[in-house]
Amino acid sequence: MDMDAIIDALGGATQVQTLLGVGPSAVSNYRARGQFPEYARVRIWQALKARGVTVDPETLAFADKISTNDANTGQHSPHPKIIPKSPQILLIISGGIAAYKSLELIRRIKDKGWQVRCIMTASAEQFITPLSVSALSGETTYTQLFSLTDEAEMGHIRLAREADAIVVAPATANIMAKAAYGLADDLASTVLLASDAPLLMAPAMNPFMWAHPATQANQRQLHMRGVRFIGPDSGDMACGEDGAGRLADIPVIIDAIDRILPGQGALNGMTALVTSGPTHEPIDRVRYIANRSSGKQGHAIATALARQGAKVTLISGPVDIPPPAGVHVVAVETARQMHTAALAAMPADIAVCAAAVGDFSVADAANHKIKKTGDNDAPSLTLRQNPDILATIAAHQMRPRLVIGFAAETDDVINYATAKRLRKKADWILANDVGQNDKPVFGSEHNMVHLVTEYGVEPWPEMSKHDLADQLVKRIAKDLTAKEISV
Ligand SMILES: Cc1cc2nc3c(=O)[nH]c(=O)nc-3n(C[C@H](O)[C@H](O)[C@H](O)COP(=O)(O)O)c2cc1C
Repeated sequence: MDMDAIIDALGGATQVQTLLGVGPSAVSNYRARGQFPEYARVRIWQALKARGVTVDPETLAFADKISTNDANTGQHSPHPKIIPKSPQILLIISGGIAAYKSLELIRRIKDKGWQVRCIMTASAEQFITPLSVSALSGETTYTQLFSLTDEAEMGHIRLAREADAIVVAPATANIMAKAAYGLADDLASTVLLASDAPLLMAPAMNPFMWAHPATQANQRQLHMRGVRFIGPDSGDMACGEDGAGRLADIPVIIDAIDRILPGQGALNGMTALVTSGPTHEPIDRVRYIANRSSGKQGHAIATALARQGAKVTLISGPVDIPPPAGVHVVAVETARQMHTAALAAMPADIAVCAAAVGDFSVADAANHKIKKTGDNDAPSLTLRQNPDILATIAAHQMRPRLVIGFAAETDDVINYATAKRLRKKADWILANDVGQNDKPVFGSEHNMVHLVTEYGVEPWPEMSKHDLADQLVKRIAKDLTAKEISV
C-alpha cells in the first residue's frame, strides 16, 4: 500500500486520525506496517472518492495516475502527487424511443473529457445496437447480468463502484419503477441498487405514462432518496401525442451531469448537521411520550444539502421513512441522545434543526412496565426539561456559520418564531403553523412556512417538503457562497 500517497491524498495524518477516530500513534503504526487495518479500508476508500481519487476498495491501490515529479519544478518529489483521473460516467440506456439520442449524449460526454461506460437494457437493444454504443464510447457495452466474461473482467459490483456518477438516459417508466421499488432483475437495475454514486435520470415517455400517478409517485420516491431528474420536456412526441414526456435536450443533460459529479456542488467541501423526526421519551419499558413528526422535512433537507456536495450527518429520531442516500445517518431515540449526537457531529458549517424534539422527558422512567394497581389508580409522572439542541449549537464555541431552526406552533406563529430566533441565537427560523386542522403539516407531503431572519419575515408559498428543502438549500448556498444555484 502506498501509505504516504494515501495519507497525502486524504489531507495529511491529522485528517486520517479524525477520519478513523484514532490517535497519532495509530497512524504512525499503520505507516510502519505499510497498511491500514481491514475495518478502515471502506472509510478510506469513501473519503478518497469524495476527494475525486479512485482506489481499489480491496487493496487501496490507486486507479488514478500518480506523478512522482513536482508539477511546478518538474523535480522528483518524495511524496507522489495524485493526478485525479477524469470522471467516469456510467450511462444506462433503457428501452424508449429516445434511446437513439443516447448516441449523441455519449459523444457530448466524451467532448467534456469524461470517460463513459454504457449498460443497455434488453429493451434498449430493440432500438439501438450495443455495437454503435461501443463504437462511440470506445468501451465494451454491458448488457448481461450473468455473463461469465463480464463478471470475470468487470462484475456488476465493480461497474457500480467505479462510477463517479450514473446517468439513466433515456429513463423509461419501467426502470424508474424498478429503481423506486429496489427491483434488481437485470444488469441495469442491479447496478442501480448496488451503487451509492450520484444518480441522474432523464425520463422520456408518452405523456400519459409520465402523468400516470404510479410514475409520478415513483419519481417522488426517487427524488426523496436523492435521485436527480432532468426533464422531461414538453412538446410534440414521436408517438404523435403532445405533452410532457420528451427527453431533455442533450446540452441540458450534460449540464445536469456536471452538477452531480462529486466536487461540483455549491456546498462542496462543507459539512452539515441536520436533526430530523420526533423523539421518544420513555415512561417505562414499553411506553413513551412522542409527537407526530414524520421526519419527512428534515430528511428532505439532508438530501438536498448532500446533493449540493455537503457532507451531511443526519441525526434522526424514530421514523418510518428510508434513510437518504449519500448521508451519514445517526439513529437516536431520545432528546438527550439527539443532543449528544448533535454535539458529536460538530464542527459543522451548517446546522439545520428540523427535529421535533420533546421538550420534556420523564424524570424517573421505570425499568419495568408500570402496572395498574387499582380501579381508579393512575401513576403521576414527573417531567424534567430536555436540553435545548438549537440553543446549544448556536452558543457553541465551534458555532456553525449558519444555524437554522424550525418553530412548529399552533398560535401566534410569527411572533413566537421571531422571539425564538433571538432567544436561541439562531440565524434563521422556519416557522410553520401546525394548528390548522384542515392542513396538517405532520406526516403530510407539503409544508408552508415563514422564513424569519434578522432582516424580517418572508412568507413562502405552500410547496412540497422536497421543494421547500431545495429552496432552503438554495438560500443557504447563496448566504454561504454567494452562488446562485438552480435546483
Ligand atoms: C416502439 C416502442 C417505444 C417505446 N417507447 C417508450 C418510451 O419512450 N418510454 C418508456 O418509458 N417506455 C417505452 N416503451 C416501453 C418500454 O420499452 C417497456 O416498458 C420496456 O419494458 C422497458 O424496459 P427497460 O426499462 O428495461 O428498458 C416503448 C415500447 C415500444 C414497443
